[in-house]
Amino acid sequence: MTSGKVTGREETAVCARLVEQLTCLPPPPLAVARLASNPSLSVDKTPGPPSMEIVAAADSDERGLSLLKVVDVLQRVVVFVHSFTVGKFRGKLRKATTSSEEMPDMSEEHVTAKVKELCQDLILNDEALKDVCDNLEEEINKGLGKDSNPEASIKCFPTYVRELPNGKEKGRFLALDLGGTNFRVLLIELGDKCTMDSRIYAVPQPIMVGPGDGLFDHIAECLASFIKERNLGDELLPLGFTFSFPCKQEGLTKARLARWTKGFKCEGVEGRDVVELLKLAIARRGDVRIKICAVLNDTTGTLMSCAWKNYNCRIGLIVGTGTNACYMEKLEKVELWDGGNDGPHQVVINTEWGAFGDNGCLDFVRTQYDINIDRESINPGKQLYEKMISGMYMGEIARQVLLRLISERLLFGGCSSDILQEKGSFFTKYISEIESDKDGDFSNCRAILEELGLDDVTDTDCANVRHVCECVSRRAAYLAAAGVSVLLNRINEESITVAVDGSVYRFHPHFHNLMVEQISHLIKPGIKFDLMLSEDGSGRGAALVAAVASRSASMR
Ligand code: GLC
Repeated sequence: MTSGKVTGREETAVCARLVEQLTCLPPPPLAVARLASNPSLSVDKTPGPPSMEIVAAADSDERGLSLLKVVDVLQRVVVFVHSFTVGKFRGKLRKATTSSEEMPDMSEEHVTAKVKELCQDLILNDEALKDVCDNLEEEINKGLGKDSNPEASIKCFPTYVRELPNGKEKGRFLALDLGGTNFRVLLIELGDKCTMDSRIYAVPQPIMVGPGDGLFDHIAECLASFIKERNLGDELLPLGFTFSFPCKQEGLTKARLARWTKGFKCEGVEGRDVVELLKLAIARRGDVRIKICAVLNDTTGTLMSCAWKNYNCRIGLIVGTGTNACYMEKLEKVELWDGGNDGPHQVVINTEWGAFGDNGCLDFVRTQYDINIDRESINPGKQLYEKMISGMYMGEIARQVLLRLISERLLFGGCSSDILQEKGSFFTKYISEIESDKDGDFSNCRAILEELGLDDVTDTDCANVRHVCECVSRRAAYLAAAGVSVLLNRINEESITVAVDGSVYRFHPHFHNLMVEQISHLIKPGIKFDLMLSEDGSGRGAALVAAVASRSASMR
């Protein structure tokens, strides 16, 4: 068993997760006090699987807390948490504002004309974005069609979630959340307020690419240890399993993995029902009893979590390690639907839009950098839209561009560093940090370049590096905006809320504003929309799906 120590590259994910857990904490001093009094934050000391723990007695119903206050809490928490993990954290958090002064300035005077010219490939004009929208719409239609689905790149899996929460859901639930390098177990209490107690466990790299049984044994071990620690053994709590990979659902508790994404590649799982695999792993241990009530994707969790109190919410979006969206679709448009026709004539569709472009229809906007990244990835030819947008790849795209500029002697006098030559060395969080520098100030940028072994840099170098980051993140935000616009236009209601989560959206200082700006250009006149940060969709959303499912079952 590996140690639970959080180091280097896991830092972004861990910080993101910790902050994700803390978004609904009480005001700052208390939040920090709780963390300070919780020495188990950094490394697990108890026997059992490696883990990190935050006792987040989260009152997610504190709607009185203004968004700015939340951002303030997040800023303090990130800085605090980081001091427990790796040391200095330069990144700042997205300011929740749509004012234009927050937008990146793409016309910095220092940026070299030749650099701008070379980055031109990364800039999507209106026409290209419109074509992306048209192709995406076509792929969604294909995905929903019975005969066309097999060739569609966007698979549009019906989730069997047909009702949104009404805000009155109650009860105690367990939730499992697997979708990245960490795995979480949560105990959630829904009532007038929502309280949560959770523990984060690392998923060591060998488990991510090892045999499937190893992964599910690890999940079962973490769950058993959580249940024992909390003395929950006597209760048979309903459990929601957030499994954030493309699955063909065959019911609310049956989901066959279509394929692995985001760096996972465990043998023997593709094509199998992941709920069954989890039950088998639990049976192999024989020391815990569980009642799985729902399996869901993180996008569905995000939608449910926001819809709990916001009745206009129809779309769930993730821009984090991966990207994906789900939305509420009318049953008559879902030829694929094989569930009953009773009840609400709608169903949440997990689009799995990360695979958009896998049939070549995005080639007209892909660059040499995208081609290189795909070729070097664990899943070449797959998840091409995701590879242009999400946190797993953005940093690497920027690194590729920087290397190109160096080779053309347009950066650092043509000298690279050993670290920058290494694949994956330019983390996606660097983009957020560099773009958080105030105009004309390059302190984050210089510190990052120094970390990368590049210390003799000029202001022009910094402006050029920042320009590269802006081109990469702006393209990602615009592409995600194109996707959201297609869904908004399909739903075509007067006022629609999009629930959003994921580290890129949360931490990039301009991502929200860039998306809002582009969506406004691309949607039909008359539709009003807003992008709302969704609190802990993978946890609370899982409990809500389980709660709504048991309510619907009891009414039938
Ligand atoms: C990947 C997964 C998808 C998930 C998304 C965000 O695209 O395939 O299921 O929703 O990442 O985590």
